[in-house]
Amino acid sequence: VDTKTPQYNTSDATSFASVSARDRWPIILTGAIDDLHRATAKETNAEKHDEGKKITAGLAALKYELQHDRKLTPLVDDGSPDIKGYNEELEQRGNPNWFNVPWLYAECYLYRRMATLFATSTHWKNYDVFAAQKQSTFRSSRPAVLELAAHYNDLTQQLQSQKSALAHASDAEREQAEQVLFTEMCEICLWGNATDLSLLTNLSYEDIQKLQGSASRKANEKKILVNDFHAAFAALKKAQKAGTADRRVDIVLDNAGFELFVDLVLAGYLLQSGLATQIVLHPKNIPWFVSDVIPADFGSLLNVLVNAQTFYETPSEDDLARGTTPQPLSDKERKDLQLLFENWSTLYAQGSIVMRPNAFWTEAGSYWRLPSTAPALYQDLQTSTLVIFKGDLNYRKLTCDAQWDPTTSFAEALGPLGASDSGVRVLALRTCKADVVVGLKPGEDERLRAMEGGGGESGMRKWAWSGKWAVVSFCDGKTA
Ligand code: F6P
Ligand code: MG
Repeated sequence: VDTKTPQYNTSDATSFASVSARDRWPIILTGAIDDLHRATAKETNAEKHDEGKKITAGLAALKYELQHDRKLTPLVDDGSPDIKGYNEELEQRGNPNWFNVPWLYAECYLYRRMATLFATSTHWKNYDVFAAQKQSTFRSSRPAVLELAAHYNDLTQQLQSQKSALAHASDAEREQAEQVLFTEMCEICLWGNATDLSLLTNLSYEDIQKLQGSASRKANEKKILVNDFHAAFAALKKAQKAGTADRRVDIVLDNAGFELFVDLVLAGYLLQSGLATQIVLHPKNIPWFVSDVIPADFGSLLNVLVNAQTFYETPSEDDLARGTTPQPLSDKERKDLQLLFENWSTLYAQGSIVMRPNAFWTEAGSYWRLPSTAPALYQDLQTSTLVIFKGDLNYRKLTCDAQWDPTTSFAEALGPLGASDSGVRVLALRTCKADVVVGLKPGEDERLRAMEGGGGESGMRKWAWSGKWAVVSFCDGKTA
């Protein structure tokens, strides 16, 4: 079911796969080891303490195997049915070594293997080694969070009184205004994807804060290389006008923290504007690619909003080290976060926003396999009006992480999901952090490579690794 086009491989020195396996993954594992080491040291229960040490050793062994280019070993059975698929595929792929293995499979295997260490323990089953990192990065996006909270609350009010504001506008004018707003909300949601912890090795906090503010969003429109927002809006509008009662939008989530925050901004907007009647969020079941959303992250986010003062005003370890104290929240800021909390928790309590986990999202395969390996999930997504896939990894999985010519159409790169009768309407919101990219105009890749830091004559598509460019690609599987 996978494409015949070769996939990116960690053996290809010109791809980000190679940099990832050699440089990024060891750093990520070191971070996990440090986190667990610290948690274990604080642990007073002797049994849990010893088990923590054992898991730490397991992580260290994994790092050793990776750095010494050993073979990927079969995963131990931790009781979940997906292990079988991982191990069968490993065998089919000829038991590869770390530095000569398809990038997508190996990176998924890495996080799945880490998860087996915790799943087979007694005391650490639900421990997320990336949780602390997710929380502290979210805290550092405070300026953008406060700006957006205020913006969202204003918008909520406007939408509630919109009839009066646009009373004298024509239908066409009203729709035009709606499309502008829709695009803005989607852009917020798109650039929120630049905040990905697995890439923090490249981007500074300052870079991230720049990407998150509203001024930068305008400036960044030129960085959206494929821009299909209009088509996605048209599909939602058409369903709304047709009076379809259930108009569901699905969001296949990517990262926790700031990105989840902006996903909820978009979700709330779609519901309150009437462009959707329900939002289904798809999280991961296990800690994944460092910062991806697991169900617990949703609760943590709401907790932050309701306890905003404690969250933002308690000095962090960094503050303590530097002897600084965090700026207190103003009354207005506190109220804004409170209002946001009430709005989102109401939507959640009403069932307008729901979370729907599925093991498929943490399998190693691409989404070319969705119809064959997860038929029930496939059918579920077919009943949705629009399925939004967030982020880089989802895009890699949609396109099979294959070495497409960049002018290949998005529909072709989607495989089965790209068929006009797939029944799934796909919108990918992705900031580019990996080699694969499709749907570009002829000459565009060459132009970008020629720019400073773009890769030049090196054979590397470096411009696509940084998270500074984006693609917004739409494919309508409901036209046949
Ligand atoms: O390319 C770097 C990388 O960490 C990939 O491993 C992965 O596809 C991606 O970024 C994660 O980014 P995102 O959170 O946007 O999926
Ligand atoms: Mg991610």
